[in-house]
Amino acid sequence: MSIYSRITGTGSYLPPRRVTNDELAAEMATRGLETSDEWIVERTGIKARHFAAPDVVASDLALEASKNALQAANIQASDIDLIIVATSTPDMVFPSTAAILQNKLGIANGCPVFDMQAVCSGFVYALTVADSMIKSGSAKRVLVVGAEVFSRILDFNDRTTCVLFGDGAGAVVLEASDKPGILATELHADGSHVDILCVPGNVSGGQVIGSPLLRMDGQAVFKLAVGVLDKAARAALEKAKMQEADIDWLIPHQANLRIMMSTARKLKLAPEKVVVTVDQHGNTSAASIPLALDHAVRSGQVKPGQNVMLEGVGGGFTWGAVLLTM
Ligand code: ACO
Repeated sequence: MSIYSRITGTGSYLPPRRVTNDELAAEMATRGLETSDEWIVERTGIKARHFAAPDVVASDLALEASKNALQAANIQASDIDLIIVATSTPDMVFPSTAAILQNKLGIANGCPVFDMQAVCSGFVYALTVADSMIKSGSAKRVLVVGAEVFSRILDFNDRTTCVLFGDGAGAVVLEASDKPGILATELHADGSHVDILCVPGNVSGGQVIGSPLLRMDGQAVFKLAVGVLDKAARAALEKAKMQEADIDWLIPHQANLRIMMSTARKLKLAPEKVVVTVDQHGNTSAASIPLALDHAVRSGQVKPGQNVMLEGVGGGFTWGAVLLTM
């Protein structure tokens, strides 16, 4: 009997403070920075984002999303035998945010835990690793989380980046099953593009060496993203012996509506087949795909038995796709 991995529950959490483009523009104006709702919506599709309170860390958001996913899967936290947290904004340099989450969830069964660092591709990377560990027999019930407090690494004096990102978390429970769930995965990276999207600082000798804030060459990221995403999706389809027309829903990394719709066009998918949450969440990096998936499941868009293509792209440069049946 084949072992598959299936998503049996999804959950998400957004910090309560919602900031519209107009509110952000008004706040930036007090520091002499000009932007507008019109500019942000036209270039990105973003209308609002959520920001965490100063004392809230990534594991706090991850905890709430995880509780929702566990409830949806109808299992207890203690049933989990592996935790992977995709994040670029961990609580600490170490230990992992996954270890902190394990403790907050009260899981005392000694299950392995680790963080996945692939920036905005983090969730598709984490899901791929979880799928492999289930198929190899190393795990049976995995909690896969994407959690970010990107507001902590934004330069609010750089209008080209600070309007793009938000905070949030999404989670799934992935379980071993005799029914197909994850059908194919495809991961890539090209480390020659490190500089186009990075937080270049590091901690050394008790100090932060270099900048601890995000910097991005937006146009370079845009060009690379639109060049790779449809290819990764097609490669996953080929592995599963499926066609573009078999995709019921495309759930791309929610960074920019123009990138998302360009990928859909290349895959010959109608815009109605694309799950869009970037308008309300901004770019939440590794949290964006599980946040969008949970939104689509709970709103009744994505139904059991439908085929969903997840795809991520981000710093590294990293990218990938996961094709699955819900
Ligand atoms: N408000 C108003 N004007 C602005 C703003 C702003 N917030 N930001 C930049 N501008 C100005 C620029 O200064 C420039 O002015 P100029 O013509 O006088 O020099 C003008 O707007 C155009 O700037 P561009 O950078 O050319 O704008 P572009 O159309 O490329 O849009 C954007 C910028 C939205 C960042 C786009 O390049 C983009 O979306 N890139 C992809 C970014 C992305 O998706 N990143 C995330 C992927 S990976 C991850 O998620 C971590």
